Amino acid sequence: MKRLYEGKTKDVYELDNGNYLLKFKDDVTGDAGVFDPGANTVGMTLEGAGQAGLKLTTLFFEILKERNIPTHFIASDLDETTMTVIPADAFGDGLEVICRYRAAGSFLRRYGKYAEEGQELDKFVEVTLKDDERNDPPISRDALSMLGILSGGDYETLKQLTIDISDIIKEELARKNIELYDIKLEFGRDKEGNIILIDEISGGNMRVCRDGKAIDPIELANIMTTE
Ligand SMILES: Nc1ncnc2c1ncn2[C@@H]1O[C@H](COP(=O)(O)OP(=O)(O)OP(=O)(O)O)[C@@H](O)[C@H]1O
Ligand SMILES: [Mg+2]
Repeated sequence: MKRLYEGKTKDVYELDNGNYLLKFKDDVTGDAGVFDPGANTVGMTLEGAGQAGLKLTTLFFEILKERNIPTHFIASDLDETTMTVIPADAFGDGLEVICRYRAAGSFLRRYGKYAEEGQELDKFVEVTLKDDERNDPPISRDALSMLGILSGGDYETLKQLTIDISDIIKEELARKNIELYDIKLEFGRDKEGNIILIDEISGGNMRVCRDGKAIDPIELANIMTTE
């Protein structure tokens, strides 16, 4: 088994049959010991965070499969904290697609002059470049097309998939009285060229609240998988 990439929260291995294996780690993103799903640095290590992330990711990917959403998911091994997935090619060096239902995080840091914290946003989709050096800058549909990263047609596909997936996740969370503020997704292309959802869907890539109080990734996984 060859390690292809050592990430902030997961390591990526290539299996003999060509599939990839994602190893979930106990590292979570944040700043100065405070969890922040939008952060670009490992903020802390939380025992059980890897397990929790994999459990929730598995639950959500299984739900998406039932809804016929194309994803990279093949299988999970909770004891090994690993997930077997279909390999995908990134758009450029990778994009993140965010869907916002309420104003928080980087949206507020950028648009705070015009938006209030927690203000309702109507499934607002935005794309950012995965570029740690430049702090993951937001990028427009036109810039993506001009720079040869993503065509206009593919942008629309990505946007619609993001809304469909985020709405499904939002609905699942709402069943447990949890409100989704925002969520970050990643997509890639499989070897047939289809756009598929990749990476993970866990507490580490979303902001959620219950009774107005933020819920951390481990608590979220507990609520969703046991309550
Ligand atoms: N099916 C897939 N095919 C190829 N790459 C994938 C797939 N699923 C996830 N990845 C990539 O594997 C990596 C997982 O590692 P991790 O999430 O720790 O990365 P990271 O350190 O957060 O860095 P990044 O900023 O690239 O996400 C990510 O770069 C993600 O894009
Ligand atoms: Mg990541």
